[in-house]
Amino acid sequence: MKKSELISEINRLKIEKNAVIMAHYYQIGDIQDIADYVGDSLSLAQWAAKTEADIIVLCGVHFMGETAKILSPKKKVLVPDINAGCSLADSCPADEFETFVRSHPDHTVISYVNTTAAVKALTDVVVTSTNAKRIVDQFPNDAKLIFGPDRNLGNYINSVTGRSMLLWDGACHVHEQFSVEKLVKLKLEHPGSLIIAHPECKKTVLLMADFIGSTQALLNYTTQSEKKSFLVATESGILHEMQKKNPEKEFIPVPPNDSTCACNECNFMRLNTLEKLYNCLLNEIPEILIDEEIREKAVKPILRMLEMS
Ligand code: 13P
Ligand code: SF4
Repeated sequence: MKKSELISEINRLKIEKNAVIMAHYYQIGDIQDIADYVGDSLSLAQWAAKTEADIIVLCGVHFMGETAKILSPKKKVLVPDINAGCSLADSCPADEFETFVRSHPDHTVISYVNTTAAVKALTDVVVTSTNAKRIVDQFPNDAKLIFGPDRNLGNYINSVTGRSMLLWDGACHVHEQFSVEKLVKLKLEHPGSLIIAHPECKKTVLLMADFIGSTQALLNYTTQSEKKSFLVATESGILHEMQKKNPEKEFIPVPPNDSTCACNECNFMRLNTLEKLYNCLLNEIPEILIDEEIREKAVKPILRMLEMS
Protein backbone atom coordinates (compact mmCIF):
# COMPACT_ATOMS: atom_id res chain seq x y z
CA MET A 1 0.00 0.00 0.00
CA LYS A 2 1.20 3.53 -0.75
CA LYS A 3 1.86 5.86 2.21
CA SER A 4 -1.19 8.04 1.40
CA GLU A 5 -3.43 4.91 1.31
CA LEU A 6 -2.01 3.68 4.62
CA ILE A 7 -2.76 7.06 6.20
CA SER A 8 -6.37 7.16 4.96
CA GLU A 9 -6.96 3.51 5.98
CA ILE A 10 -5.55 4.15 9.47
CA ASN A 11 -7.82 7.18 9.83
CA ARG A 12 -10.85 5.20 8.60
CA LEU A 13 -10.20 2.26 10.97
CA LYS A 14 -9.63 4.61 13.87
CA ILE A 15 -13.12 6.11 13.51
CA GLU A 16 -14.81 2.76 12.72
CA LYS A 17 -13.33 1.13 15.85
CA ASN A 18 -13.45 4.14 18.19
CA ALA A 19 -9.70 3.87 18.62
CA VAL A 20 -7.22 6.48 19.74
CA ILE A 21 -3.57 6.60 18.61
CA MET A 22 -1.03 7.80 21.16
CA ALA A 23 2.61 8.30 20.21
CA HIS A 24 5.79 9.05 22.11
CA TYR A 25 8.06 11.86 20.85
CA TYR A 26 10.66 9.23 19.84
CA GLN A 27 8.41 7.72 17.16
CA ILE A 28 9.12 8.31 13.47
CA GLY A 29 7.62 11.56 12.14
CA ASP A 30 4.87 9.81 10.11
CA ILE A 31 3.51 8.14 13.25
CA GLN A 32 3.69 11.36 15.27
CA ASP A 33 1.79 13.13 12.49
CA ILE A 34 -1.09 10.62 12.39
CA ALA A 35 -1.40 10.24 16.18
CA ASP A 36 -4.24 11.84 18.17
CA TYR A 37 -1.88 12.50 21.05
CA VAL A 38 1.90 12.95 20.95
CA GLY A 39 3.73 13.35 24.21
CA ASP A 40 6.26 12.21 26.77
CA SER A 41 5.87 9.24 29.13
CA LEU A 42 3.90 11.25 31.69
CA SER A 43 1.43 12.68 29.18
CA LEU A 44 0.87 9.24 27.63
CA ALA A 45 -0.02 7.82 31.06
CA GLN A 46 -2.33 10.77 31.82
CA TRP A 47 -4.15 10.44 28.47
CA ALA A 48 -4.45 6.66 28.82
CA ALA A 49 -6.11 7.11 32.22
CA LYS A 50 -8.69 9.53 30.78
CA THR A 51 -9.57 8.34 27.28
CA GLU A 52 -13.13 7.40 26.32
CA ALA A 53 -11.97 5.33 23.34
CA ASP A 54 -12.53 1.54 23.20
CA ILE A 55 -9.07 0.85 21.79
CA ILE A 56 -5.76 2.52 22.63
CA VAL A 57 -2.97 2.05 20.10
CA LEU A 58 0.21 2.93 21.95
CA CYS A 59 3.01 3.78 19.54
CA GLY A 60 6.05 3.67 21.75
CA VAL A 61 7.64 0.77 23.59
CA HIS A 62 6.23 -2.16 25.55
CA PHE A 63 6.28 -0.59 29.04
CA MET A 64 4.23 2.35 27.71
CA GLY A 65 1.57 -0.07 26.43
CA GLU A 66 1.64 -1.83 29.81
CA THR A 67 1.19 1.46 31.68
CA ALA A 68 -1.83 2.27 29.50
CA LYS A 69 -3.32 -1.20 30.13
CA ILE A 70 -2.67 -0.98 33.90
CA LEU A 71 -4.56 2.32 34.00
CA SER A 72 -7.33 1.32 31.58
CA PRO A 73 -7.83 -2.44 32.09
CA LYS A 74 -11.23 -2.54 30.35
CA LYS A 75 -9.84 -1.10 27.14
CA LYS A 76 -8.06 -3.02 24.44
CA VAL A 77 -4.45 -1.78 24.33
CA LEU A 78 -2.57 -2.51 21.12
CA VAL A 79 1.04 -1.89 20.11
CA PRO A 80 2.31 -1.93 16.50
CA ASP A 81 5.27 -4.19 17.37
CA ILE A 82 5.32 -6.38 20.48
CA ASN A 83 9.13 -6.63 20.23
CA ALA A 84 9.58 -2.90 20.86
CA GLY A 85 11.20 -3.29 24.27
CA CYS A 86 13.48 -1.02 26.30
CA SER A 87 17.06 -1.65 27.39
CA LEU A 88 16.48 0.37 30.56
CA ALA A 89 13.45 -1.72 31.59
CA ASP A 90 15.46 -4.86 30.70
CA SER A 91 18.29 -3.71 32.99
CA CYS A 92 15.97 -4.28 35.97
CA PRO A 93 14.64 -7.88 36.14
CA ALA A 94 11.78 -8.10 38.66
CA ASP A 95 13.25 -11.03 40.66
CA GLU A 96 16.60 -9.24 41.17
CA PHE A 97 14.86 -5.96 42.02
CA GLU A 98 12.69 -7.79 44.56
CA THR A 99 15.82 -9.14 46.31
CA PHE A 100 17.26 -5.60 46.40
CA VAL A 101 14.01 -4.12 47.77
CA ARG A 102 13.64 -6.87 50.40
CA SER A 103 17.18 -6.28 51.64
CA HIS A 104 16.19 -2.65 52.44
CA PRO A 105 12.78 -3.11 54.10
CA ASP A 106 12.75 0.38 55.69
CA HIS A 107 13.06 2.15 52.31
CA THR A 108 10.37 3.67 50.09
CA VAL A 109 10.70 2.39 46.54
CA ILE A 110 10.58 4.93 43.70
CA SER A 111 10.65 3.51 40.17
CA TYR A 112 11.01 5.23 36.86
CA VAL A 113 8.10 4.51 34.50
CA ASN A 114 10.58 2.70 32.19
CA THR A 115 10.02 -0.60 34.03
CA THR A 116 7.94 -3.73 33.58
CA ALA A 117 4.56 -4.12 35.29
CA ALA A 118 6.20 -6.68 37.64
CA VAL A 119 8.75 -4.07 38.83
CA LYS A 120 5.99 -1.47 39.24
CA ALA A 121 4.17 -4.02 41.43
CA LEU A 122 7.18 -3.86 43.83
CA THR A 123 7.13 -0.04 43.87
CA ASP A 124 5.62 2.59 46.19
CA VAL A 125 5.55 5.43 43.67
CA VAL A 126 6.33 5.60 39.96
CA VAL A 127 7.95 8.70 38.44
CA THR A 128 8.78 9.93 34.96
CA SER A 129 11.62 12.26 34.04
CA THR A 130 9.10 15.14 33.97
CA ASN A 131 7.89 14.74 37.56
CA ALA A 132 10.76 12.87 39.32
CA LYS A 133 12.15 15.95 41.12
CA ARG A 134 8.69 17.21 42.10
CA ILE A 135 7.78 13.81 43.57
CA VAL A 136 11.08 13.15 45.38
CA ASP A 137 10.85 16.67 46.90
CA GLN A 138 7.54 15.65 48.52
CA PHE A 139 9.27 13.08 50.77
CA PRO A 140 10.81 14.26 54.07
CA ASN A 141 14.52 15.12 53.83
CA ASP A 142 15.50 12.16 55.99
CA ALA A 143 13.30 9.62 54.13
CA LYS A 144 15.13 6.46 53.09
CA LEU A 145 14.56 6.05 49.38
CA ILE A 146 15.40 3.49 46.70
CA PHE A 147 15.42 4.73 43.10
CA GLY A 148 15.45 2.41 40.11
CA PRO A 149 16.36 1.55 37.47
CA ASP A 150 18.20 4.46 35.81
CA ARG A 151 21.48 5.32 37.58
CA ASN A 152 21.96 8.51 35.53
CA LEU A 153 18.50 9.91 36.25
CA GLY A 154 18.88 8.76 39.89
CA ASN A 155 22.24 10.53 40.26
CA TYR A 156 20.82 13.66 38.65
CA ILE A 157 17.77 13.67 40.97
CA ASN A 158 20.06 13.11 43.98
CA SER A 159 22.12 16.13 42.92
CA VAL A 160 19.16 18.49 42.40
CA THR A 161 17.25 17.40 45.53
CA GLY A 162 20.20 16.94 47.90
CA ARG A 163 19.17 13.31 48.56
CA SER A 164 21.24 10.19 48.70
CA MET A 165 18.75 7.69 47.32
CA LEU A 166 20.02 4.13 46.88
CA LEU A 167 20.29 3.58 43.13
CA TRP A 168 19.68 0.53 40.98
CA ASP A 169 22.53 0.16 38.47
CA GLY A 170 20.57 0.33 35.20
CA ALA A 171 20.78 2.56 32.13
CA CYS A 172 19.36 3.29 28.70
CA HIS A 173 21.69 2.20 25.89
CA VAL A 174 20.66 5.20 23.76
CA HIS A 175 21.19 7.96 26.32
CA GLU A 176 24.44 6.43 27.63
CA GLN A 177 25.90 6.48 24.13
CA PHE A 178 26.34 10.21 23.51
CA SER A 179 29.90 11.09 22.61
CA VAL A 180 31.43 13.87 24.72
CA GLU A 181 34.18 14.24 22.12
CA LYS A 182 31.67 14.77 19.29
CA LEU A 183 29.62 17.10 21.49
CA VAL A 184 32.70 19.27 22.16
CA LYS A 185 33.44 19.34 18.41
CA LEU A 186 29.84 20.35 17.61
CA LYS A 187 29.94 23.11 20.22
CA LEU A 188 33.16 24.49 18.67
CA GLU A 189 31.50 24.42 15.23
CA HIS A 190 28.32 26.08 16.57
CA PRO A 191 29.50 28.32 19.40
CA GLY A 192 26.16 30.15 19.63
CA SER A 193 24.19 26.92 20.22
CA LEU A 194 22.83 25.81 23.57
CA ILE A 195 23.41 22.21 24.69
CA ILE A 196 20.22 20.56 25.97
CA ALA A 197 20.19 17.03 27.43
CA HIS A 198 17.87 14.39 28.86
CA PRO A 199 18.72 13.34 32.45
CA GLU A 200 19.16 9.71 31.30
CA CYS A 201 22.49 10.89 29.76
CA LYS A 202 25.79 10.29 31.55
CA LYS A 203 27.07 12.89 34.03
CA THR A 204 29.86 13.97 31.63
CA VAL A 205 27.22 15.07 29.09
CA LEU A 206 24.95 16.60 31.75
CA LEU A 207 27.86 18.69 33.07
CA MET A 208 28.19 20.30 29.63
CA ALA A 209 24.46 20.99 29.26
CA ASP A 210 22.92 24.47 29.42
CA PHE A 211 19.56 22.86 30.17
CA ILE A 212 18.58 19.38 31.43
CA GLY A 213 15.03 18.07 31.18
CA SER A 214 12.58 15.40 30.07
CA THR A 215 11.56 15.28 26.41
CA GLN A 216 8.59 17.57 27.19
CA ALA A 217 10.77 19.97 29.17
CA LEU A 218 13.36 20.10 26.36
CA LEU A 219 10.62 20.85 23.84
CA ASN A 220 9.13 23.61 26.03
CA TYR A 221 12.58 25.08 26.65
CA THR A 222 13.48 25.32 22.96
CA THR A 223 10.09 26.86 22.16
CA GLN A 224 10.34 29.51 24.89
CA SER A 225 14.05 30.29 24.40
CA GLU A 226 15.17 33.29 22.37
CA LYS A 227 18.17 31.29 21.14
CA LYS A 228 18.05 30.02 17.58
CA SER A 229 20.26 26.92 17.67
CA PHE A 230 20.35 23.84 19.92
CA LEU A 231 22.57 20.76 20.24
CA VAL A 232 20.13 18.05 21.33
CA ALA A 233 21.33 15.13 23.49
CA THR A 234 18.34 12.82 23.54
CA GLU A 235 16.73 10.40 21.08
CA SER A 236 16.52 12.25 17.76
CA GLY A 237 12.78 11.58 17.24
CA ILE A 238 12.06 14.67 19.36
CA LEU A 239 13.60 16.86 16.64
CA HIS A 240 10.44 16.31 14.54
CA GLU A 241 8.22 18.16 17.04
CA MET A 242 10.92 20.71 17.93
CA GLN A 243 11.28 21.65 14.26
CA LYS A 244 7.49 21.67 13.73
CA LYS A 245 6.96 24.04 16.66
CA ASN A 246 10.00 26.19 15.82
CA PRO A 247 10.50 26.20 12.04
CA GLU A 248 12.90 29.16 12.21
CA LYS A 249 15.26 27.47 14.71
CA GLU A 250 18.07 24.98 14.15
CA PHE A 251 18.21 21.62 15.97
CA ILE A 252 21.38 19.56 15.72
CA PRO A 253 21.31 15.99 17.08
CA VAL A 254 24.31 14.96 19.19
CA PRO A 255 25.84 11.78 17.74
CA PRO A 256 26.56 8.58 19.64
CA ASN A 257 29.98 6.99 20.27
CA ASP A 258 31.31 4.28 17.96
CA SER A 259 29.20 5.27 15.01
CA THR A 260 29.32 7.25 11.84
CA CYS A 261 25.62 8.16 12.30
CA ALA A 262 24.86 11.82 12.86
CA CYS A 263 22.05 11.14 15.32
CA ASN A 264 21.09 8.76 18.07
CA GLU A 265 18.01 6.61 17.52
CA CYS A 266 16.35 4.05 19.80
CA ASN A 267 16.21 0.83 17.78
CA PHE A 268 13.16 -0.28 19.81
CA MET A 269 11.17 2.89 19.17
CA ARG A 270 12.04 2.64 15.47
CA LEU A 271 10.52 -0.83 15.13
CA ASN A 272 7.11 0.81 14.76
CA THR A 273 6.12 1.74 11.21
CA LEU A 274 2.96 3.07 9.53
CA GLU A 275 2.39 -0.37 7.99
CA LYS A 276 2.58 -2.10 11.39
CA LEU A 277 0.26 0.54 12.85
CA TYR A 278 -2.24 -0.17 10.07
CA ASN A 279 -2.04 -3.97 10.56
CA CYS A 280 -2.40 -3.61 14.29
CA LEU A 281 -5.58 -1.53 13.96
CA LEU A 282 -6.98 -3.83 11.29
CA ASN A 283 -6.35 -7.15 13.10
CA GLU A 284 -6.40 -5.82 16.69
CA ILE A 285 -3.10 -7.50 17.51
CA PRO A 286 -0.57 -7.47 19.16
CA GLU A 287 -2.53 -6.80 22.33
CA ILE A 288 -1.03 -5.99 25.74
CA LEU A 289 -2.33 -8.38 28.41
CA ILE A 290 -1.32 -8.27 32.07
CA ASP A 291 -1.86 -10.73 34.90
CA GLU A 292 -4.63 -9.20 37.07
CA GLU A 293 -2.79 -9.79 40.37
CA ILE A 294 0.24 -7.86 39.06
CA ARG A 295 -1.94 -5.15 37.52
CA GLU A 296 -3.75 -4.51 40.84
CA LYS A 297 -0.39 -4.03 42.59
CA ALA A 298 1.14 -2.00 39.74
CA VAL A 299 -1.76 0.45 39.42
CA LYS A 300 -1.30 1.82 42.97
CA PRO A 301 2.16 3.44 42.48
CA ILE A 302 1.08 4.83 39.09
CA LEU A 303 -2.06 6.42 40.55
CA ARG A 304 0.07 7.80 43.39
CA MET A 305 2.35 9.34 40.75
CA LEU A 306 -0.62 10.93 38.96
CA GLU A 307 -1.81 12.41 42.28
CA MET A 308 1.65 13.72 43.21
CA SER A 309 2.41 15.16 39.72
P1 13P B 1 10.38 10.89 28.81
O1 13P B 1 9.31 10.68 27.82
O2 13P B 1 9.84 10.85 30.21
O3 13P B 1 11.21 12.09 28.57
O4 13P B 1 11.35 9.61 28.73
C1 13P B 1 12.25 9.41 27.71
C2 13P B 1 12.45 7.99 27.36
O5 13P B 1 13.52 7.49 27.33
C3 13P B 1 11.28 7.22 27.01
O6 13P B 1 11.66 5.96 26.69
FE1 SF4 C 1 14.17 2.58 26.57
FE2 SF4 C 1 16.18 4.23 26.06
FE3 SF4 C 1 14.63 3.40 24.05
FE4 SF4 C 1 13.66 5.12 25.91
S1 SF4 C 1 15.28 5.52 24.45
S2 SF4 C 1 12.67 3.28 25.08
S3 SF4 C 1 14.73 4.42 27.75
S4 SF4 C 1 15.94 2.10 25.31
